[in-house]
Formats: sequence, C-alpha cells, structure tokens
Amino acid sequence: MSRTIFAANWKMHKTAADTAAFLDAFLPKVAALPQHVEIIIAPPFLSVPSAWPALRNTRVRLGAQTMHWELEGAFTGEISAPMLREFGVSHVILGHSERRAHANETDETVRLKVRTALEQGITPIVAVGETQDQRKAGITQEHVVGQTRAALHQLSTGDLGRVILAYEPIWAIGTGQNCAPEEAQRVMAAIRGCLEGLNETPILYGGSMNAQNVAGYVAQPDINGGLVGGASLDPEGFANLIASATT
Ligand code: 13P
Repeated sequence: MSRTIFAANWKMHKTAADTAAFLDAFLPKVAALPQHVEIIIAPPFLSVPSAWPALRNTRVRLGAQTMHWELEGAFTGEISAPMLREFGVSHVILGHSERRAHANETDETVRLKVRTALEQGITPIVAVGETQDQRKAGITQEHVVGQTRAALHQLSTGDLGRVILAYEPIWAIGTGQNCAPEEAQRVMAAIRGCLEGLNETPILYGGSMNAQNVAGYVAQPDINGGLVGGASLDPEGFANLIASATT
C-alpha cells in the first residue's frame, strides 16, 4: 500500500492553548484510520512545545513551518533544526510560497535547508508552485520542475528517498479556487520526473483542499495526499477530510 499523507499547515493560526484544545478533539477522531495514513500537524513555533507531549504515543507527527539552514549563530529571530528536534519535530515545511514571498526563502536557501533537515534527521516537505501569471504564460511545469531540481540538487538517492514534495499552485492557496485534480496530476507527474525513478516518494497537493474535493486528488496516480491550510484548522473538519480520502 503506498503512503498517504495529510499535513496541516496552520500558518499563523492557533496559540499554544488553541493547539492543545484542537488536539484534544482531533486525536480521538483519527485514531482508528487505516495505518498507512500518515498525519502531520505543523503549528506555529510557539505552539510546538504544547503539541509535543499531546502527540507522544499517537500516530500524529509534529511539523514546523520553516527553519534555518545553520545549526546556530547570529541569525536574529530564526529557529534551528536542533531546537526543533528537541521538541519532537520530525517534519519541516520548506519553500512554502508565503515564505518565498514574504521571508526571502529562495531556491538556494531552500536547498540549504533541505540538506540540513536531512542531516539532522528531520523530513523536509518541499513546497513548489506557480503564480497565476506563470500558469497563464504556460510555464507552470518549467517553473515547478526548476524549483524542485534546485531544492533537491546533488542529494544522494538515499536522501532523495527521504523527502516529501508538495505542489501548491499559488493561485489556489486560500482562494477557494482549487486546481482541477487532472491539472494537478499533470504537473505532479512532471515533478515526479525529477525524482530519478523514486516512485514511492510522496507528493502532496495543496491549495483549497477540503473534504468535498479531496477524493478527486487522491484518485490521481501521482497525488499521495494533501498539504492543507484553512481546512486543517477545525478538528472535526480536518478529521473528516482525511477520512473522506482514506476510508
Ligand atoms: P489552503 O488549504 O488554505 O488553500 O492553504 C494551502 C497551503 O498553503 C498549505 O500549505
């Protein structure tokens, strides 16, 4: 059975108290889902310490939304991989379009972060995606393949096999305008083409995914789950989304 992964990217939502309340409600709802389904919650940094004890001995893994590529140093406001690991973080989203747009994550810094995450035993979830203008110009595949190749540049086959990818068309994020599953599949097949035959590498779709449209995505051969923003914020709604895709 191939892997199916749903990762919640909470962005700048939920205090530590909100996070604890979410997990109280969410964990019982997902306990009985099939074992091949992997679930990751990526809260804001300050909510990570409250999520960690709640997730111990559960099936849900803990993610972060970014990190620095250096292990320590004069980088005001940044968080390093060892700091994340100390609080049980096993996954980190890298290259999200909001980080690329607002926080200077570039192809080069994403590449550095991917390497550091792998060296530190944290699974990178590498996000790529095109703007509406790039889509209209017909350069979607060229753009996302370029971002993917840059992020994975010179990784060993072993390391490549530990990466999760996420295709998030920027125009579909938070807009309610999800990308048609067939269109996403075409782009994601091109992304898979960058993986040197690693057909098991999970590739997630992100962009206005919800409980109503999720089944259409996971029915596609190169879509292995979702990176979910808005629809991951409500415990019942997110549990229903995952159940709609996997039962
Ligand atoms: P939405 O699901 O809110 O469109 O956000 C997607 C996203 O950016 C996840 O990383």
